[in-house]
Amino acid sequence: FEVVWDASAAEKGGWPSFMAKEVSEEPEAVANTIRGRIHDGAVVIPELAGMDDLFAGIRRVIIIACGTAAYAGQTGKYALEQWTRVPVDVELAHEFRYRDPVIGEDTLVVSISQSGETMDTLMAVKYARERGAKTLSICNTQGATIPRESDAVVYTHAGPEVAVASTKAFVAQITALYLLALHIGRVRGVLSGAESADHVRELEAVPPKISRVLAEEQAHIEQFSRWMADTQSVLFLGRHVGYPIALEGALKLKEISYIHAEGFAAGELKHGPIALIEPGQPVFVIVPSPRESAELHKKVVSNIQEIRARGARVIVVAEEGDAAVLPFADEVLRIPLAGPFFEPLLAVVPLHIFAMGLATAKGLDVDQPRNLAKSVTVE
Ligand code: AGP
Repeated sequence: FEVVWDASAAEKGGWPSFMAKEVSEEPEAVANTIRGRIHDGAVVIPELAGMDDLFAGIRRVIIIACGTAAYAGQTGKYALEQWTRVPVDVELAHEFRYRDPVIGEDTLVVSISQSGETMDTLMAVKYARERGAKTLSICNTQGATIPRESDAVVYTHAGPEVAVASTKAFVAQITALYLLALHIGRVRGVLSGAESADHVRELEAVPPKISRVLAEEQAHIEQFSRWMADTQSVLFLGRHVGYPIALEGALKLKEISYIHAEGFAAGELKHGPIALIEPGQPVFVIVPSPRESAELHKKVVSNIQEIRARGARVIVVAEEGDAAVLPFADEVLRIPLAGPFFEPLLAVVPLHIFAMGLATAKGLDVDQPRNLAKSVTVE
């Protein structure tokens, strides 16, 4: 009797791929990033002790990152601006450095990187520092180069991410940005203690809600991704915080299933992309909550009607109980109710499952897509 030991299978803990394991760990990635940073309903980030004067004095935040980390930045920007009333720009690290940006001592440059080794992001951090900006790194890898080169670091505690396609790190990055935003919002007196505590409660409720999406939607999504194995192109639409989620959904699909995919701001449709819609074109639409933002919801439903009238196959990601989308949707993927800034942490989960399901249906290696490295350490 011989026991055959497969180290890689053991590391996957019974999952067919690292990506499948890491998607299943999205609830813990959020929970572990929050853990130890909430005291009596208030955000306390020990790593940022002594920085309150700096946070009180900043006049501008620039978030720099690449790929999925940049989409986490784009998602976090809405809450960061709202809760701190400091203008926030999000820029791809490799673009930032080559345009002579206006930065100074009152600029906080927040870099986001899972690996902490992405060369484009590292060079942008060094550039910002040399020009006098304060730099803060959001990073998933203890002691990596980017946090070492930054003035401060807030670690995401997503655990090691092995699959090239970033999943659990993405939700952890948004979580860390929200913690940072709540802290700065309190320091600057924009948020009251009660407002901040409400947001903290919403954030703490996210992990079990992600678990519900996984439990209730995974089999359904995997089934229709198998039906879509021959698809040539998929579009993703979103508004407000749903927009970067659309970009993330498209990137994940390109990366691991080699299908042409584009994410658009839904409002941009009539400015061009609607010309792409022909009968049978699959379009994912991230639908905002009708309870939280009736106006945005109405606009997105009208976008759905426009594409549906042109024959699109519409797959909506919508909150439970949203019946307005039903007449126009071919597939409905449900997410639990959440406040407007917290929806993206739930809406992205079906998109991660879909990309993985489609790549698997095509017989591709989801963990090691062609031409890509987990960490891009060259410029
Ligand atoms: C995500 O799925 C990608 N593999 C890629 O876009 C990645 O997010 C990007 O290269 C940034 O990596 P980092 O977070 O390690 O800096």
